[in-house]
Amino acid sequence: MSKYYVTTPIYYPSGKFHIGTAYTTVLADMLKRLKVMQGYDSLMLTGVDEHGQKIEDKAKEANMSPKEYVDIQADAAKKLWKTMKIDNDIFMRTTDEYHERAVQEIFERFLKQGDIYKGEYEGWYCKPCESYFTETQLVDGKCPDCGREVKKMKEEAYFFNMKKYADRLLEFYNSHPDFIKPEYRKTEMINNFIKLGLEDLCVTRTSFDWGIKVKSDPKHVIYVWLDALTNYITALGYLSDDDSMFKKYWPADLHIVGKDIARFHLIYWPIFLMALDLPLPKTIFVHNWIMMKDGKMSKSKGNVIYPEQLIERYGLDATKYFLIREVPSSQDGLFSPEEFVQRYNYDLCNDLSNLLNRTISMVNKYFEGKVPEYNGIKNDVDEDLEKASKDVIESYNREINNFEFANSLKEVWNYISRTNKYIDETSPWALAKDEENIEKLKSCIYHLVANLREIAILIRPLMKDTSDNMLRQLGMGSNVNWDTLKEYKNIKNIKVIEKGEPIFMRLKEEEEVEAIKNMMKQ
Ligand code: MSP
Repeated sequence: MSKYYVTTPIYYPSGKFHIGTAYTTVLADMLKRLKVMQGYDSLMLTGVDEHGQKIEDKAKEANMSPKEYVDIQADAAKKLWKTMKIDNDIFMRTTDEYHERAVQEIFERFLKQGDIYKGEYEGWYCKPCESYFTETQLVDGKCPDCGREVKKMKEEAYFFNMKKYADRLLEFYNSHPDFIKPEYRKTEMINNFIKLGLEDLCVTRTSFDWGIKVKSDPKHVIYVWLDALTNYITALGYLSDDDSMFKKYWPADLHIVGKDIARFHLIYWPIFLMALDLPLPKTIFVHNWIMMKDGKMSKSKGNVIYPEQLIERYGLDATKYFLIREVPSSQDGLFSPEEFVQRYNYDLCNDLSNLLNRTISMVNKYFEGKVPEYNGIKNDVDEDLEKASKDVIESYNREINNFEFANSLKEVWNYISRTNKYIDETSPWALAKDEENIEKLKSCIYHLVANLREIAILIRPLMKDTSDNMLRQLGMGSNVNWDTLKEYKNIKNIKVIEKGEPIFMRLKEEEEVEAIKNMMKQ
């Protein structure tokens, strides 16, 4: 059985996660579930990145020790992923002892190899990003990543010799076209960083305490990014007594990361792995962000929205659908209350829910709930529909393989529209008036049910509850996988439920837009 190891970044546990931060995890979860359905031995990692000055400061603010603080935050993160039914296999915590030990060992190894050396650092430091910048990297004198104030700071520190690996990294980029997705992120890395000459990276701090100590020089704390990035291998037991998981699942098949942390994953992480003489991940996918009309989500702007709020009012699947549907790989996605309500009403209610409802009521009305078997009667409209049923699988797979996740849903929804149109084209109510047309009517109803099962399978990696609900109403068990898609003509002995239950009910637009706006004010 082929393996599939997918990771999200490990999150800073420094507050509640908003819907933007939830995006990465929802996406990773969808891909993991898809691979499970396709028969892969799949493993998903998420977790928390618990060290660093930012966390130390937050703990102080809350009057707690850093460990007390991160324990509470890690529980809150776990609770959110449970609410969102995220199927992660590993919840990584960088304060776990085995991780700290492995990071210390990695650091000592780099020192011994001469990849890390001791020097003095002077630079512009951005506290929220925990990053040093050179003068030229600053944008208008501010942090190039977050735009906030930076401070000049100087300290004795250890450095990682990045320059040594720059050519090897470029060569790796060039010989591994699938390493970075989308392609334009690779160009960005080359033009904005590698071509300008990689600076050696400062990998220790002495200005604060909350981190993993350098074993041979404990007044230094290991830079939080060196600590955090290695989680992807320590979580699998790398450098522990039992590294069987590491042997089985590494290299990762996919790291999913947001655009703000591309540099760390596309430059530093591969270089650390090269220095460890380990294989590099197969693909790193950099996704865009969910933005609000007035820019980034932030408490001070009063435009933050949390997943729990949307889930409580509109359900989990509608929330997840919106997130994945709205972020194309080419640009940021936009969250607006209006757009959310419209997607809910048009895509979920009008298109999907109504298709299921109309079909179930027709099976009951014309065939006492029993789905007719495939009878091979076909006119042009049926031919065309059957072709669409094959095409949608291909185009869904194509979009997923191209990392165009929003488009993969778009393809499914085009297919839902195509199926709705098929009802108008075949006019089953007219066929039902004439006994002569009974076989045509059977064929029409069969196709509708077969399409709905196909749709339930295609949306299943993202919208499992909806998929279960659809299959239950159609009188089928949930025992489906990707191979079931090949069984289009093979549905037999099915009885749908007597009265269809709407899976999504139409929302009152103005009222709900207001409700979402109110959520943002909380
Ligand atoms: N701790 C680091 C990652 C270390 S990985 C070795 C970190 N954590 S984070 O909590 O700040 O961010 C977690 C993820 O959320 C990142 O991938 C980030 O890009 C993503 N997002 C944060 N805001 C987002 C949106 N508004 N939209 C989509 N993703 C967003 O970075």
